[in-house]
Amino acid sequence: MNKIVICGATSAIAVEVAREYASRGATLYLVARDGERLSTLASDLKARGASGVHTEVLDLALNEHHQALLARIKDILGAIDALLIAYGVLPDQQRCEEDVEATMQLLQVNTLSVISLLTLFGNEFAKQERGTIAVISSVAADRGRKSNYVYCTSKAALDVFLQGLRNRLFSNGVHVLTIKPGFVDTPMTAHLKKGLLFAEAAEVGRGIVKAIDRKKDVVYLPWFWIIIMAIVRNIPERLFKRMSI
Ligand SMILES: NC(=O)c1ccc[n+]([C@@H]2O[C@H](COP(=O)([O-])OP(=O)(O)OC[C@H]3O[C@@H](n4cnc5c(N)ncnc54)[C@H](OP(=O)(O)O)[C@@H]3O)[C@@H](O)[C@H]2O)c1
Repeated sequence: MNKIVICGATSAIAVEVAREYASRGATLYLVARDGERLSTLASDLKARGASGVHTEVLDLALNEHHQALLARIKDILGAIDALLIAYGVLPDQQRCEEDVEATMQLLQVNTLSVISLLTLFGNEFAKQERGTIAVISSVAADRGRKSNYVYCTSKAALDVFLQGLRNRLFSNGVHVLTIKPGFVDTPMTAHLKKGLLFAEAAEVGRGIVKAIDRKKDVVYLPWFWIIIMAIVRNIPERLFKRMSI
């Protein structure tokens, strides 16, 4: 893996993935909204061994910029070895229940804009006939819960899209990875009380790189979430609807 594109590069989890690739001497193309944090990150990655770091400031929720973004990346990198889509937001569920626009905006950021990128990059990877497309979904995608179901929906839609994309691009030699972290201690969860189930971003970042290396289809991070979610998915709906989780 030599040429890596990261959309949402300032995410705490994405930073850890970028550090892993920098230490392998990769060339990175980083896209995020915050220019200052991007340049600090670029210097850090160069110091860690990256062969080159390109940065672009962009609000990735704006679909209309995606085609031009891909064109600029191709101009600079040529072929792409891996794309990681890491950006996302955790909405205020209560607000989404009261305000349709808040729900629509959340779906634009977490789902529709990601599908826009996946469609464009998916076609590009199909032409290349190689490469990895990795997307950070969530264990939340596995079951809708009253406390969080708008976020769950945003990630569940991605999971199904990725299943289809994986099935389609397999014959082109393209690897599609769905990443499902549990609770991770990052700015996104800063407001939550931390417990035993919380993982560090560095551990999840290493897990993502390992799953890309091993060409996994779906990875739960840390691994024990595969068991937790198998149990959660199998609770009958008539019981689940009475539970408060
Ligand atoms: N933390 C968890 O417990 C957890 C669990 C499961 C899945 N995930 C997923 O993991 C991914 C990374 O999150 P994280 O935990 O690393 O949290 P984070 O550090 O808060 O990262 C979220 C990133 O998304 C970026 N972002 C949001 N909207 C954007 C937009 N319109 N354009 C460009 N960038 C945008 C943010 O940029 P700004 O800083 O500029 O806002 C930030 O860099 C997300 O998809 C999240 O849903 C997280």
